[in-house]
Amino acid sequence: MTKEEIEQLLQKIEDLKVQKLQDVEDIRVKLLGKKGEITKMFEEFRSVLPEQKKEFGQKLNLLKTKAAEKIEALRENFENGQIAGCSKFDFTKPGDKFELGTRHPISLAREEILNIFGKFGYAVAEGPEIEDDWHVFTALNFPPDHPARDMQDTFFINPDSNDPILLRTHTSSVQVRTMERMPLPIRVVCPGRVFRNEAISARAHCIFHQVEGLYIDKHVSFADLKQAILLFVREMFGPDTQIRMRPSYFPFTEPSTEVDISCNICGGKGCNICKGTGWLEIMGAGMVDPNVLEASHIDSTKYTGFAFGMGIERIAMLKWQVNDLRHYFENDVRFLREFQSVI
Ligand code: DAH
Repeated sequence: MTKEEIEQLLQKIEDLKVQKLQDVEDIRVKLLGKKGEITKMFEEFRSVLPEQKKEFGQKLNLLKTKAAEKIEALRENFENGQIAGCSKFDFTKPGDKFELGTRHPISLAREEILNIFGKFGYAVAEGPEIEDDWHVFTALNFPPDHPARDMQDTFFINPDSNDPILLRTHTSSVQVRTMERMPLPIRVVCPGRVFRNEAISARAHCIFHQVEGLYIDKHVSFADLKQAILLFVREMFGPDTQIRMRPSYFPFTEPSTEVDISCNICGGKGCNICKGTGWLEIMGAGMVDPNVLEASHIDSTKYTGFAFGMGIERIAMLKWQVNDLRHYFENDVRFLREFQSVI
């Protein structure tokens, strides 16, 4: 045994690192066990020359103390869980619960609407949210001074331009894009997000969703429109649902109508949801105005068509009795979880 050997071992002990608790015990045995390195050095101490005994004795005692301290420190580290992969962490404990999300009610309603019309042979068509004046207004027979073009209702992206670019205010714009692009006959539903410059309240929002429907062929009549809507609402709201059509006005349809369904809460008797009337408004509809067909180069002497447009929020509100539009956008998980059973 030399002084250098003692010093080297001391250094080795100071640098010791371990991976698991068992390693600490192994080290203890290797150093301080019966046949351990330090134990052996103490045995060799007996044959150290008397004049060197003091120096060797001090070094050996220091080595032994340091080794014991180091082993204790390593053991404590494990007990406090400070060394990666070798803490007292209980791997058998259950993990944090991973909550599965739910589908948003607007997605659910959208899908159901599209599925119902899918069964009637309607394809799905989509279009851009950022649109030009032509597709949102002009091609849909809005006169140049129509109030919907006003800044109050429409978000214009370039308000000062003669060539306005805007956020679409309705999905009727996709009607126009479809008529421009698709061969006749046309039978599509067009879901999408729309934007209006409205103050946010329980009944209005500046962003909402619509589904537009369009059917163009030879001999399409108002009776076809009525039948399509009746079949749709009975699938959506139940087989006893009645419809009522009130005359209305839209620039792009003639004649135009607003469609009500019998209140699905009170069955038409009158309640606070239908405000005692027994009826709930669900959509606008009508026969496509010949001007609209002609604007998209469809011969209005040969073809006729109907169109309808509904708000998805409104349909979902009536189906699931949601009383405030803002719930759809706030995404409070307590609200969203209520739709878990619908999926
Ligand atoms: N675009 C109308 C709106 O946003 C809804 C609508 C009404 C669409 C009548 C139509 C229709 O296709 O025929 O209020």
